[in-house]
Amino acid sequence: MTTEPGPSLADLAADPHPHLARLRSTGPVSWIPALDGWLVTDRATALNVMRDDATFTVDDPRFSTAQVVGRSMLSVDGAEHDRHRSAFSEPFRSGAVRENLGPWLRDEARRIVKSFADGGSAELRGALAAPLAVSTVLHTLGLSPADPDRVLGWYRTIGTAIEGVNAGREVDDGAAVAVAGLRARIDETVAHGSGPLADAAGMLDADAVFANAAVIMFGAIETSEGTTASALLHLLSSPEQLAEVLADRTLVADVVEEALRIEPAAGLVDRYATRDVEVAGVNVRQGDLVTVSLAGANRDPAVFDDPDRFDLHRANARQHLTFVQGPHVCLGMHLARLETREAVDAVLDLLPGVRLVPGYSAPARGLVFRKPGSVGAAWDVSRRAPTGTA
Ligand code: HEM
Repeated sequence: MTTEPGPSLADLAADPHPHLARLRSTGPVSWIPALDGWLVTDRATALNVMRDDATFTVDDPRFSTAQVVGRSMLSVDGAEHDRHRSAFSEPFRSGAVRENLGPWLRDEARRIVKSFADGGSAELRGALAAPLAVSTVLHTLGLSPADPDRVLGWYRTIGTAIEGVNAGREVDDGAAVAVAGLRARIDETVAHGSGPLADAAGMLDADAVFANAAVIMFGAIETSEGTTASALLHLLSSPEQLAEVLADRTLVADVVEEALRIEPAAGLVDRYATRDVEVAGVNVRQGDLVTVSLAGANRDPAVFDDPDRFDLHRANARQHLTFVQGPHVCLGMHLARLETREAVDAVLDLLPGVRLVPGYSAPARGLVFRKPGSVGAAWDVSRRAPTGTA
């Protein structure tokens, strides 16, 4: 254990990896004053904490998302968690995602790329990763053809309120209006139709349907955007690996897995100790915050050789904990993987000679949600097939 001051929140939001490596070298669990909690930085301890929801719970009044949208699968444990989650699990199974969403995702990624392909250059996070993340979750929940900008506006306001609660502020009136707007849209979708929300309404009350739908949106948008942007940034930053992938497109799945490992789009998850417990030699007190650094676990040198290197041939990349393990394992992981694969494929298929524009990209940053600042790319418009034929 370390008792030194530790990194600041700004350090952890900018480039956390050197700080995490230094903390891990002193022990897998460190007290971080800036977090007012413990930080777990190795993979083995991270797994132990995330699998034991009786000792390390999410069900705590400090949990900010629940304060803004209400109790959902993300903020409860035990039988209540299973009840919330099982109402939504069917459409997110691997087979269901592949069959029901695969062709749509492929078309949607291509539609978005074609919309800017004639320009010859673009910032791919804003032009592709973000709109694909939004349209995918709206389509999956059956919220389209909702006006995406309005839904996104509510989403951003609610997200800001959740960050505000984390910083000790009250939920403001603007957030209450946004919650009401999103709630009305979700109630309307339930009333009018079939689909995942209407199915869940057969199992949960209206408050719980809303809270879980909101959490699915929060789980899906920032994270998928960050992962797609990060996969493109890492691939385009390595011309040799890009050439390999262009020659063998089955490698796109490996690119996505290694991108998930090297920069998890949700870098931290929070748990609260339900009792006094020893964790890797450290005495954690009942009520203490125990934050698991997924970014730290994914670069644990005991598991991953040369962990700071992006290597699409890394044999054990799938051992990353980006989607966590245990009861709160990401509901949308199959969808997220497929979405990023389709985005990378669309870029490689439709933008010949695609490459990074020097000085026009910025690495990932963010304390919890981490995504590249920008992914500026250019390609050869003259080599493009006429629109509509690719
Ligand atoms: C690459 C993109 C994604 C990443 C990195 C990611 C990451 C995560 C993480 C770390 C958790 C666990 C949170 C915790 O234990 O405290 C989680 C849970 C969750 N994710 Fe994802 N996620 C992604 C995409 C998605 C998508 C596309 C959806 C839905 C469409 C989604 C829906 C959820 C939900 C509902 C939960 C809560 C599950 C539960 O508590 O039982 N996620 N995700």
